[in-house]
Amino acid sequence: MTVLAALCGAFMPRSAQGDAAAIGVQRVTVQGGASIYRDVCQGCHMPGGRGAAGAGAFPALAGNSRLEAAAYPISMVLNGHGGMPWFNGVLSDVQIADVVNFVRTHFGNNYRDAATPGDVAAQRGPAPTMER
Ligand code: HEC
Repeated sequence: MTVLAALCGAFMPRSAQGDAAAIGVQRVTVQGGASIYRDVCQGCHMPGGRGAAGAGAFPALAGNSRLEAAAYPISMVLNGHGGMPWFNGVLSDVQIADVVNFVRTHFGNNYRDAATPGDVAAQRGPAPTMER
């Protein structure tokens, strides 16, 4: 998974992906997993992490077994995927660890092996092309 994430980060053309800056998110200053979730993630993943289906399909984070290995949500937040914007350069290692740990321990998820900022740093690829 880590290798895959590194490859995606290195080779995926950034311009073809969602850009967090394009949806008005720039250098988020709010701290703490719950607050970051509310301000940055909830607009798509909805309160309670229940997700949404319809014009935009946003996967539920509630009761989501794909959050078991922290490397996966870390990679999603850093690199984005499909309609999920990337937050490399927008959220710090601490902020990403905090919000990943928040979603992994809320909404019916109970994955207590906390990700650290060092885990995020280890997965953070080359600097994105967007302005930092
Ligand atoms: C602009 C809307 C949007 C925002 C903001 C957003 N996401 Fe997502 N997210 C998505 C979409 C769409 C997907 C599905 C992407 C795909 O696989 O094609 C997704 C997928 C995910 C997944 C993988 C879920 C799975 O079952 O595979 C995780 C984890 C995730 N997002 C976490 C977050 C976190 C944490 C934040 C806040 C830092 C966030 N997202 C912000 C739209 C968003």
